[in-house]
Amino acid sequence: MKLIYSLALLILLQASVSAQTQQIINVENRQTTTLNGQWKFLIDPYENGLYNYRLQPFDEMENPPKAAFFSDAKPDDKTELLEYDWDTSPTISVPGDWNHQFDNLEWYEGTIWYRKKFEYKKSEESNRVFLHFGAINYYSKVFLNGKKLGEHTGGFTPFQFEITDLLEDENSVVVYVNNNRKPEGVPTVNTDWYNYGGITRDVTLIETPNEFVEDYFIQLDQENPEVIKGYVTANESNSDFEVEISIPEIGLTETVQLVNGRSDIEFTAKNLEYWSPDNPKLYEVRIKTPFETIIDQIGFRTIKTDGANILLNGEFVFLRGISIHEENPYRVGRARSQGDAELLLGWAKELGCNFVRLAHYPHNQHMIRLANEMGLMVWEEVPVYWTIHWENPETYANAEKQLEALIHRSKNSAATIIWSLANETPVSDARNEFLYRLSEVAREADPTRLLSAAMEVHSGDSPSEYIIEDKLAEYVDIVSFNEYIGWYVGLPERLTRSKWTVPYDKPVFISEFGAGAKAGFHADSLTRFSEEYQADLYTKTIDALTQIENLRGMSPWILVDFRSPRRQLSVIQDGWNRKGLIGNDGEKKMAYYILQAFYNQKATQ
Ligand code: GCU
Repeated sequence: MKLIYSLALLILLQASVSAQTQQIINVENRQTTTLNGQWKFLIDPYENGLYNYRLQPFDEMENPPKAAFFSDAKPDDKTELLEYDWDTSPTISVPGDWNHQFDNLEWYEGTIWYRKKFEYKKSEESNRVFLHFGAINYYSKVFLNGKKLGEHTGGFTPFQFEITDLLEDENSVVVYVNNNRKPEGVPTVNTDWYNYGGITRDVTLIETPNEFVEDYFIQLDQENPEVIKGYVTANESNSDFEVEISIPEIGLTETVQLVNGRSDIEFTAKNLEYWSPDNPKLYEVRIKTPFETIIDQIGFRTIKTDGANILLNGEFVFLRGISIHEENPYRVGRARSQGDAELLLGWAKELGCNFVRLAHYPHNQHMIRLANEMGLMVWEEVPVYWTIHWENPETYANAEKQLEALIHRSKNSAATIIWSLANETPVSDARNEFLYRLSEVAREADPTRLLSAAMEVHSGDSPSEYIIEDKLAEYVDIVSFNEYIGWYVGLPERLTRSKWTVPYDKPVFISEFGAGAKAGFHADSLTRFSEEYQADLYTKTIDALTQIENLRGMSPWILVDFRSPRRQLSVIQDGWNRKGLIGNDGEKKMAYYILQAFYNQKATQ
């Protein structure tokens, strides 16, 4: 009997956990209410708020006790024992990683609970309400008014839950967050970046009509630049309402009829101004249904490869890039706001870039929206980084889910031209199979963009011969690789003798090269961590790499110094990776100007 009961409970639990709904896209332009601001929090390294002392999970109990932190309970009277009180707990800013907000949390990896009380009145009784998170790093469980909405794994992609039928006059949302690194995780336990934990991006209530347009893909037909192609889908699979899609600026208005909640779209759009770095033209696109009108700002362009060339709107383009971590060096925390995006992308623009590699995980929406406005092409990637557990099906499912969520979110971003599958992953049959499957998922989800992955260099026979031979190169459109000749491999003079073999008739992109330098530390060009060493390496690397016939771009490592627990050299690193062209106080190093000069010269070609 007990077995049947627990089986039924498990099915019930699965049902409750699956309350997570498909991402609503274009959240920024919906009817929203922010839950950003001060939340209560409880540090819970022993997960006392989730398990009883026999380690039985409260969230799997039929009637969770008041001791469960998500119950947000109070003692009935002075005699009752309860060992937490949300109302007297400390507060923390959301969005924002916890590490940079409190000294005692700087290195904390574990569980922290958050709670926010809010009132919400729907503007229309028949409307729906969703609770949307821009991202939570790394694993979270979300509860509303004591009921479990669901769970989410993955630190850099959005997710949401419908809460329409759970709203009360006053509401209590409680979020369990755990940022422990896991061997089977994506990323795994070893990375070269700071494991910032917490609700790191915006939290938003979205109100929608009962039936609404949940998703759409409105982009240029890559085979015919006078045709806009895609689809529009409703939240209900039986919706059959009309959807009017218009671009007022070019006098375009088309109507489609949903069938089973979906309709393809394909209409002629003559005299469009194509989006490009020189002309980042965004059109107001209006999506009107009998119940609402959604507005979006969308650019239209084509991006293709032709042999070794990358063609933007049919024209040759060289990607003058830079790699960027999602970190504001001044605040020393996860970048998350419009202001953070303006800081980072402003530096990239000043450097002479037309391209940014947003490493090593999906960045926040502010970065993507601003890149579209500023005219910066974007490489977006999932954190399939280094020694991922290639044989673990759950690890693959996690990576696939993160890639699908990234593509789902960014598929109308004209600036996004490349999806990247992996970074510096050790070659093996299991890894090739894992990444081949991911490449197929990406092509199925979005056949309009280019695929790449940051591969590694393999040494040839002679000490200065470097070859890229990686099966992964067959699955992607652009052959990208990271190389650290002169930093991790010999000294910069080795670059002057380097010979490169990249045996693919595809564009070649150098996704990383670089050297560490402490801003303001000056010595001769053989002294490690001097600005002179970094500058000399940049000069020699640019001279060496421009010998590669199919070279079509680069994104040196990295725009600005960033926090990493792997960098312990006192006085010089002090927990910072110093490969930035800009120091963590914003000072530009000598190498910054070398790359800037190269890019300014490339821009005139
Ligand atoms: C690797 C890796 C980066 C890392 C860099 C470095 O290429 O991709 O994430 O920070 O090298 O060692 O600085």
